[in-house]
Amino acid sequence: MNRDTLARILDLARWAPSGDNTQPWRFEIVDDHLIRVHGTDTRDRILYDYDGHPSHIAHGALLETMRIAASGFGLTTSLSISSEGDDRSPTYDIRLAHSPTLVRDPLFACIETRTVQRRPMKTTTLADKQRQALIDAAGEGFRVQMFESLGDRMKVAGLLWDSAKVRLTCPEAYPVHKEVIEWRARYSKDRIPEQAVGVDPATARLMEWVMQSWGRVAFFNRYLLGTVAPRIELDLLPALCCAAHLLVRPQRPPVLLADWVQLGIAVQRIWLTATHQGLHLQPQMTPVIFRWYARAGRRFSTAPTLFEQALNLSGDFERLAKATPADDFGFFARVGVSQEPHSRSIRQDLADLMKA
Ligand SMILES: Cc1cc2nc3c(=O)[nH]c(=O)nc-3n(C[C@H](O)[C@H](O)[C@H](O)COP(=O)(O)O)c2cc1C
Repeated sequence: MNRDTLARILDLARWAPSGDNTQPWRFEIVDDHLIRVHGTDTRDRILYDYDGHPSHIAHGALLETMRIAASGFGLTTSLSISSEGDDRSPTYDIRLAHSPTLVRDPLFACIETRTVQRRPMKTTTLADKQRQALIDAAGEGFRVQMFESLGDRMKVAGLLWDSAKVRLTCPEAYPVHKEVIEWRARYSKDRIPEQAVGVDPATARLMEWVMQSWGRVAFFNRYLLGTVAPRIELDLLPALCCAAHLLVRPQRPPVLLADWVQLGIAVQRIWLTATHQGLHLQPQMTPVIFRWYARAGRRFSTAPTLFEQALNLSGDFERLAKATPADDFGFFARVGVSQEPHSRSIRQDLADLMKA
């Protein structure tokens, strides 16, 4: 196989999504038939990377993108995962083989155009074909539950409102929020550009100033209703202004690294399918992640009431999804029709993503 082809596959695979655009991977071309992905995670510095699982989901999204990209060059992929018992630095070997009969995956064209939409979308109801395509995209082992009526979207809005309060008042989440936004930017190679965050320019300026220190954030939250404006713009309105919310529920508990990777494969298939169906999508993972902490009994903050708030919102989430505390939730997102976002995260250059 031509090394140029392998580089072109990696160049496309780079466009896979990752939480906060962290791109927790490095690539190695081992030989003409073998690409090795060295996975990493951010659990030690990012509160949301619960046991590295959101990074593992991103690894799965990357591997699925690589498979789809390879199909465009008439190549099949077979995957082997090894972590030697430590899922902090897994390696994924992708072996490529020519297949003269292979048809290019229809999702190939969506690899580079798929992008998150954090702004309000149209409330136009999903067509039956779109709904079914999203449900089928998850594949075996996952159930996709949809919340579409205005009543359900209002309940989700309430859930996200409560979850955002935890997020914005959690001192452990503050360094993440501070680090992850590239202020005054339309594109960002390694973070989220300000204009893709979903707030208007005036709120962005205020956020930039307030987020210079935790002292300012805490003061604003306490005395000036500091969480209200961002919660309206980032959580409440987007939750109402969309066609549907979808919850991906693994049918058996994700335990092994491979289970989380499989979830990531399903997530990327759903997201690319949404793009293919003319829809945009935004993950809304914080209620899922706070529930993971709450149901595992893990106190994620020194702030006294946040754990109880996370427990309460987990109960609300379960009531909404008609689930029990023992059921697994894997991925939560909203979808709908909207204009193409004017700003987006881009990616690090391929040369910088190659293993040194
Ligand atoms: C596992 C995972 C979790 C994510 N969680 C959120 C989220 O809670 N809220 C959000 O707005 N975006 C979320 N995202 C979207 C990423 O921030 C986004 O994909 C990344 O910044 C790259 O941007 P792009 O998708 O436009 O290429 C998540 C993505 C992944 C893969």
